[in-house]
Amino acid sequence: FRLARRSIGSAARRVPLAFAFDIDGVLIRGPEVIPAAQRALRFLDGHNPLRAKIPFIQITNGGGELESVKVQKLSKQLDFPIYEEQFVQSHTVLRKLVAEYSNKPVLVLGGKGDTGRRIAQHYGFKDVYIPLDVLAWQPSVWPLGAEFISPSDLNIARRADFSRTPIEAVFVLHDPRPSWFLEIQVVTDILRSQYLTAAAPPPKLVFCNPDLLWRGQFPKSRLGQGGFREALMGVYRALEGKEYPYKMFGKPTRETYDFAKNLLRAQLGSDLTHTRIYMVGDNPESDIAGANAAGWHSALVRTGVYDPAHGKPAHEPTFEAEDVDEAVLEAFKREC
Ligand code: G3P
Ligand code: MG
Repeated sequence: FRLARRSIGSAARRVPLAFAFDIDGVLIRGPEVIPAAQRALRFLDGHNPLRAKIPFIQITNGGGELESVKVQKLSKQLDFPIYEEQFVQSHTVLRKLVAEYSNKPVLVLGGKGDTGRRIAQHYGFKDVYIPLDVLAWQPSVWPLGAEFISPSDLNIARRADFSRTPIEAVFVLHDPRPSWFLEIQVVTDILRSQYLTAAAPPPKLVFCNPDLLWRGQFPKSRLGQGGFREALMGVYRALEGKEYPYKMFGKPTRETYDFAKNLLRAQLGSDLTHTRIYMVGDNPESDIAGANAAGWHSALVRTGVYDPAHGKPAHEPTFEAEDVDEAVLEAFKREC
């Protein structure tokens, strides 16, 4: 397919090397493109001593949009074509749960407005609710909500009676908005069966991104979905005096890296035994930990979350580099 033509080129120029790039803090920081990113992508696109096209994928704990929208925006921002076939984001692997939950009522969080609902429906979930639907059902669920949510915001709400709609799974796709308060109120209500007239089993709770911190445009790392998880779990613990079990996807989980390996296999058209894969990331907890567990090499860059001034990284990379361009050159030197 089109990606293979671009990425692999003729087999004669194949090199036993492939890359997995993290995005935030490696290629971009919010709206800013990190200059080294464009140099690195050009190098992989044939502008290297072997004149070889070196395959790569992106694995991000970001999300909140359809993959097709994300790659379009990223291609424009990087001024370099990125394809869905080489792109994994936090909730991409949620598709694994469609077989079990496609016809069951699920609640999804994250994404602007009802984007979360549209993403879940695109994956194949058919009975999808969002916290705004609960507010439309009973505005008093959030006593101060009227100050923050206008009646027009509720136009996207799906009408339902949550006293008779047992939610069977809660999927936190991306960092919730408009305000954590509504999401924490609704999710803890659902985990504690505060709406139902008839008893129902507690729902499955799934987070898609463990990152407590990530690197945007602000010079200090920002709270990610891991911040929301700590807040939500802390409120539940305060209410119930116990932990609520949850499933995690995203980097560094095996599910996400297995999905990424399949993307690389499809791109290379072969298994990965003779290919040395280098993950380039800025977050030791997600990028380096996940790559090391996946049996890949890892390069930790200093353009994002990781700051050497704060001591050694929690997970040892194969090597450290100033930025993604230096990381690609170092891996190329080692392997080619
Ligand atoms: O929400 C995005 C953030 O968690 C990190 O994204 O690209 O560094 O995995 P990334
Ligand atoms: Mg990152």
